Amino acid sequence: MRDHALLHVNGVPCQVRGREAFMMLADWLRKTKGLPGTKIVCAEGDCGACTVLRACETPGVEAGSAPRFDAMNSCIALLAQMDGAHVVTVEGMQAGEELAPAQEAMRRCHGSQCGFCTPGFVMAISGMLEQHGPGPVDARCARNHLTGNLCRCTGSAPIVEAACTVRVSERHAVRPRYATAAALAASRAAQAESMLVEHDGFRFFAPVTLREACTFAAEHPDLRVVGAGTDLGVPVNKGRPMARSMLSLHLIPEVHESRLTRSAVQVGARVPLSQLRHLCDEAVPEFARFLDLFASPQIKNVATLVGNIATGSPIGDTLPFLLVAGGTVHVASRPGGKGPVQRRAIPMTDLYRGYRQLSLQPGEIITHVTFERTAPQQTVRLFKVSQRKDLDISTVSAAYAVTWQGKRGRGPRQIVEARVAYGGVAATPIRLAEVEQALVGAFDAARAEQVAELIARSIQPLSDVRGTAAYRSVLAANLFRQFAGEVLHG
Ligand SMILES: Cc1cc2nc3c(=O)[nH]c(=O)nc-3n(C[C@H](O)[C@H](O)[C@H](O)COP(=O)(O)OP(=O)(O)OC[C@H]3O[C@@H](n4cnc5c(N)ncnc54)[C@H](O)[C@@H]3O)c2cc1C
Ligand code: FES
Ligand code: FES
Repeated sequence: MRDHALLHVNGVPCQVRGREAFMMLADWLRKTKGLPGTKIVCAEGDCGACTVLRACETPGVEAGSAPRFDAMNSCIALLAQMDGAHVVTVEGMQAGEELAPAQEAMRRCHGSQCGFCTPGFVMAISGMLEQHGPGPVDARCARNHLTGNLCRCTGSAPIVEAACTVRVSERHAVRPRYATAAALAASRAAQAESMLVEHDGFRFFAPVTLREACTFAAEHPDLRVVGAGTDLGVPVNKGRPMARSMLSLHLIPEVHESRLTRSAVQVGARVPLSQLRHLCDEAVPEFARFLDLFASPQIKNVATLVGNIATGSPIGDTLPFLLVAGGTVHVASRPGGKGPVQRRAIPMTDLYRGYRQLSLQPGEIITHVTFERTAPQQTVRLFKVSQRKDLDISTVSAAYAVTWQGKRGRGPRQIVEARVAYGGVAATPIRLAEVEQALVGAFDAARAEQVAELIARSIQPLSDVRGTAAYRSVLAANLFRQFAGEVLHG
């Protein structure tokens, strides 16, 4: 059993154990490693000042092409979670005296004034280059990659210009410089062994088998499973107590798997949302488009679908979709820490018991999620209303999936099955059974209006800082009117 996490920082191997393993990566880089280029401003994943690049190999996958470097926020990730990671900070970007392409572009376009946000932008642009390759970058692509970064001085125009005009340089390419054969081999060797780091009554366990994970979960009732920690890390930075026992599944091969079958999508507990977005591109295009509105690249490159589900927030963005797409959560456990691993499946419609309460039994771990692919005779539409378009939490979200009979243009089309779900209108995300029944049959403008009014009557939202109950009711009905307008008028 390893008593340390192994990560590489700018190519240098670092073993972290004890107290250090429970520090946030950004704090550790600045205070312990003497790498103050990584800045900390919000400490909650919102501003991008702490952006670094990270690559990780997938356990169990044969050594092949080197893993990709993606941007992530280092302020909300515990060092123990970085086990197996190859981290590159802004200090690692220059080649000798020569500035990295993103640094040079920021200088040329006057993208920096006080400079506090600049390292984060440099790393976000560098992450974009790693994904995008050498072709020209348009403003839309640049803006998408910069949604997770804030600048208080320049306005965004010079920075977007820097991202659009950055020139790729082979000399600075991150992958060949930092994902070297020696570094990858060292990570792979460490990943073959389970890890337990401990300090002052806190323990962080990362086993290599699901059986060990389930045993640990059975023996530690106060356990927190840690995914990417994007939800768990923020309260820790705000002074809330950290869980005493943490379990990470990152060394278990099966939770990294994602696959498409003829009718379904399967997503392992450690698959990041950015990978899921690509998987869904053709199989569930509306969900793929919707994920573009979810958080920032820095969050999506690490955050998981399972984390979004298990947080149980009534405004979790993926939940209305999963409710209308036949989402099912698959769990594993080893009751009493004895016998074989037991598995069961919980339909999303049975998962939420109350505000942030899940119907998981103590010791149950989510291994993966499945949901349906969009069928050719189906229309699926997803909506999110938030106070700003990017990097914001929903006020209300909605998901509609209807199955049609008959073709367009020959009188009202018939709906043979309808599924309707909302987030942000109750203590949990909900399906509206009465509304679904009312939708079955011929669908025209008059029916659409009746259904919109029924939606407003069927929900009892709460008022909070994001909107009053009355506003949410109007919003829920109007989102349906928008959906109806789109399907009736194209
Ligand atoms: C800046 C920022 C922006 C965000 N934007 C959005 C947004 O636009 N929309 C949105 O919906 N959310 C958003 N979030 C919330 C969060 O990022 C998502 O909910 C994310 O999907 C959580 O995934 P994670 O892997 O980081 O979960 P973690 O933080 O690791 O875990 C979240 C919860 O899930 C539990 N859990 C994780 N894995 C398992 C498992 N295998 N079995 C059982 N329980 C498990 C954990 O114990 C914890 O309770 C945002 C967060 C931040 C910091
Ligand atoms: S410091 Fe703001 S995202 Fe990390
Ligand atoms: S240059 Fe000052 S915050 Fe961006």
